[in-house]
Amino acid sequence: MGITYNEETSTFKLDTLGSSYIIKVYQEGYLLNLYYGKKIPDTNLSLFEMRMPNASFSLANPVIGEHGFTPDSAPIEYGCNGAADFRISALAVRNVNGDDVTDIRYIAHRIYKGKPVIPGQPASFATEDEAETLEIDAIDKVTGLQITLVYAVFNNTNVMTKSVRATNTSENTMWIERIFSSCNDFPSMDYDMITLWGRWMKERNVERRPLAHGVQGAESKRGVSGHAQNPFAALVARTATEDQGEAYGFNLVYSGNFSALAECDFNATTRFIMGINPVDFEWTLNPGETFHAPEVVCVYTDEGIGEMSRIFHRFYTNNLIRSKYLEEKRPVLINNWEATYFDFNTDKLVAFAEAVSKVGVDMLVMDDGWFGHRNKDDSSLGDWYVNEEKLPGGLQPLISKVNELGLKFGIWYEPEMISPDSDLYRAHPDWCVHVDNRDPMLGRNQLVLDVSREDVRDNIWNQMYAVLSKNKIDYLKWDFNRNIADAGSALLPPERKKEFFHRFILGTYDLMNRLMTNFPDLLFENCSGGGGRFDPGMLYYSPQIWTSDNTDPLSRLAIQFGTSMCYPAATMGAHVSASKRTGYDTKGNVALWGSFGYELDPRNFTEEQIELVRSQIADYHKYYWLIRKGDLYRITDPFNGSNKAVWSFVAQDKSEFMVTYVTITKCEMDHIVIKMKGLNPNRFYKNEEDGQVYSGALLMYAGLPLNMMQMFKVNQDGASLILHFTEAREA
Ligand code: DGJ
Repeated sequence: MGITYNEETSTFKLDTLGSSYIIKVYQEGYLLNLYYGKKIPDTNLSLFEMRMPNASFSLANPVIGEHGFTPDSAPIEYGCNGAADFRISALAVRNVNGDDVTDIRYIAHRIYKGKPVIPGQPASFATEDEAETLEIDAIDKVTGLQITLVYAVFNNTNVMTKSVRATNTSENTMWIERIFSSCNDFPSMDYDMITLWGRWMKERNVERRPLAHGVQGAESKRGVSGHAQNPFAALVARTATEDQGEAYGFNLVYSGNFSALAECDFNATTRFIMGINPVDFEWTLNPGETFHAPEVVCVYTDEGIGEMSRIFHRFYTNNLIRSKYLEEKRPVLINNWEATYFDFNTDKLVAFAEAVSKVGVDMLVMDDGWFGHRNKDDSSLGDWYVNEEKLPGGLQPLISKVNELGLKFGIWYEPEMISPDSDLYRAHPDWCVHVDNRDPMLGRNQLVLDVSREDVRDNIWNQMYAVLSKNKIDYLKWDFNRNIADAGSALLPPERKKEFFHRFILGTYDLMNRLMTNFPDLLFENCSGGGGRFDPGMLYYSPQIWTSDNTDPLSRLAIQFGTSMCYPAATMGAHVSASKRTGYDTKGNVALWGSFGYELDPRNFTEEQIELVRSQIADYHKYYWLIRKGDLYRITDPFNGSNKAVWSFVAQDKSEFMVTYVTITKCEMDHIVIKMKGLNPNRFYKNEEDGQVYSGALLMYAGLPLNMMQMFKVNQDGASLILHFTEAREA
């Protein structure tokens, strides 16, 4: 059983495949967070109650015990504000008296099979056989605020999800100032924190640092999850490596402002909270209303950081991404952006399609610039009708020609944006995100459209629907090219202005939901100036996200390694482009890792390039299911100064694997030995290149030395090779 409640000890035990999480209903209804870690048996758990370190100048609830109960030094399940727990709080709700002292105590619980949805928001899903859910209700008796803590545990993986609901059971309005989705109190601070920082063209760099006293973490106030920090954080044992040691990974299923904060306190314990960023957030909760905070995916393993990543990858593939393209092969696409920017027309695009139609490319994607009078980035966002100067007769003639050449057709949108130079803006100047008496800041010459408003969403949706329903469109790239400042909506009264950011994201989710419900066959790719909105919230709707505008394979190595910290390979849009630093073989070998495509002008391909593209696409088909369904093993770490990047995909049944080796900077004929990972030591594998058969044990423990030819091949900056092994009988 995944979740049990022991009435005698008032203890909940939540078990996944390999982890346990223990909550105790303590005296006076305090909820204590007793344990999260490797799975333990259901025996006497009273040991954990001794974990109540001394207080330091702290305050006590005198009702409990001889010396009172000190919330500040207890492992609290969901830390609240102002009631003597001075650490970073997960919850603060202002009441009608104007104070925000918040103190919730247990009243009831329910355990049931399966997992609930979060209305209007993305969340992981499960069948009744896969997961079990615990809901704990806790109430603040003074204000009537009821909190429901929702936990789901999965029996076939080490994943637990957490989310929170707040319901106003009183007759007075109250105001949520902060409501985090998850709170964990760890008994020590002997952890390193891993976060993913970045910027445009350099997304998701892995940063690891020891926890220190005080508050530290990652956050976004940009209106989106953003390039700068990702809504991911891990706490790992100081000694944990890629292949061994304890790792706790947390990922917020949300695409807006977030906070992931760890505080180490005077007792050298650690509180970790994750959820909506409380900065610029407040929510009015009228009597009877409920607020839903998003979901956090929590992963535990004692098998290292690599295994933590693989648990996330499998979980997102099986239980988060809703798309038929998980089980169907995705088309190899060519996107015109880097080749033409805004300078294209029907003839040019048809010429692109012609050039690639015989080499195995399946789809032409027309990027930014097909609508309004958009010839550069200063106009027409919001005017989603075809620019007939570029595309005479509309989309139909273009799509027909592309289809006749045997290719599918895809299109680009940026639905949440509006250009000041657009018909939409001239008709509705108050539809942009803005506050009174200030001219809103521009980003890439554009304003943000206020999709927190239903009338605005309806307008954009109707425009999109008109195009998508009348034309044979197989793919949609959804872009978002700036952050949000001057956050405000003309419809929100002053006392609700701080609801804007969350309402905006709910509006985005509503639009994406309309898209997926009306066009379930559409292949949907997210994008935000490259990878500025690469988060689990977006993955719920789109099975792939454009990873970065940086398509140089050597830069991509770090970006793709960092992104793989929690996101599956198949979710990363990766294209072969005209970038200069490596040859075509390495461009292909690096792009194969993700959702594969091209981003270049194919019209003047040489014979040699045509052959290369053909063989890359053959490789794409050959390795497709191994990469999509296999497990990723990172063999080197490009963030630790390695001069090479090596990774492999191993079939889940261990019957096959491929390994890719890329030289970042050459090291004059270093002897190269690749120690494989994740194989079955007792099985045998044949090198498809030379027919040699080796045991899994040998390949992992002794490693595979490259032969002379292979050494020559990779002895150049940016050179690479792929080796492929299949299961064989003993040599
Ligand atoms: C940013 C994206 O990342 C690019 O791929 C491209 O679609 C441009 N926007 C178009 O404006």
